[in-house]
Amino acid sequence: MADSDNRMTYDGYLRIQDLLSLQDGPSGYLPKPCHNEMHFIVVHQAFELWFKVILREFDEIHKKMSQDVLPEQTIPELVHHFSRCTSVMRLMAGQWDVMQTLSPQEFLSFRHRLGTSSGFESWQLRAIELRLGLKSHDRVQGMDPMAHFEKLMNSGSLDKKIYDELVIIQNSPSIADLLRQWLARTPVDGKTPTVESMRKFTQKHLQSMQEQADSAIKHMVAVGMGDEKSLRERFEKGIDAARDFLEPSGNVDLARAGLLFIESYKDLPLLSWPRRLLDEIVAFEQSMLHFRSHHARMVERMIGRRIGTGGSSGVDYLDETVKYRVFEDLWKVRTILIRADALPELSKPEYYDFADQT
Ligand code: HEM
Repeated sequence: MADSDNRMTYDGYLRIQDLLSLQDGPSGYLPKPCHNEMHFIVVHQAFELWFKVILREFDEIHKKMSQDVLPEQTIPELVHHFSRCTSVMRLMAGQWDVMQTLSPQEFLSFRHRLGTSSGFESWQLRAIELRLGLKSHDRVQGMDPMAHFEKLMNSGSLDKKIYDELVIIQNSPSIADLLRQWLARTPVDGKTPTVESMRKFTQKHLQSMQEQADSAIKHMVAVGMGDEKSLRERFEKGIDAARDFLEPSGNVDLARAGLLFIESYKDLPLLSWPRRLLDEIVAFEQSMLHFRSHHARMVERMIGRRIGTGGSSGVDYLDETVKYRVFEDLWKVRTILIRADALPELSKPEYYDFADQT
């Protein structure tokens, strides 16, 4: 029965009034934010809402990827989750334009009110990084957000619940760990991978790389682009690096071999979704790097080279974070790919066809 008192409204469903009551700064904050400071607050809050969306998608990805066996139909779902995250990250990378409608002087007029608060304390961005698999020891300039959060929590400035949640995420397998486990299970030549079968595959690939290098050297010498000795040294370095990548300390790395297999034989029907997944993950990481570097440019324009309110070196620090690569192998494998018609032949290519429905 229709009940006008219980009618769902736009405001009620989205809790717009609650949302719009959150832009006045902390309680008792006086004077109230002027229009420029409110703009600053809204832009930050908009970013944090988008971080929330990404984290929710990451929870789904994490849950699905934690299964011992990843059903085929889950892979398009993962692609879909990542692609939403990438769209959001791209949108955020473009959102800095709105921030920089604030002039440096306008920002300085209220910057002192921020105290030592800083985006460095965005625990949602930290949750995103931890969920992906960014490790503390890979962080730049000795910055350690988790140690900082612990201090904040001990002094009562951060909810213990939030800190505990971050620790749980930090201690669970990351998306990068789960991806490696999945890649290590990639069947090559239609068989469950073993150290021997994967070593055979990587050896054949390295052999093809060598053949490619030999013919490239021959051609370059013939057209006068260098002498054989120095060209060979350069190409050999590349092949040695490929060997170290695939067989670190002489033992085949199953995840990297599986990754190389998917990237190399990407046109086989059963590999098309796995390859799209890898591509989408790279697209996401790329969008995150754009987000970081656009933030750094906006900050440079706004405050120049002064130190940040969070105490970091400011733009120098932010520029260094653009070096982060959580999915390092996905980027590195590109260096060792060879063209499709030079790839070693597979013994059972039909294993990777779609099932015959007739
Ligand atoms: C006037 C605008 C802004 C300025 C001048 C600025 C400046 C800075 C600086 C200097 C840092 C380095 C840490 C520090 O020492 O404080 C930083 C970090 C950060 N900022 Fe901003 N920021 C601005 C706007 C924003 C906005 C709108 C967001 C959106 C949430 C944001 C998110 C972050 C994040 C997540 C970090 C940590 C980066 C990392 O450690 O990897 N910032 N910001």
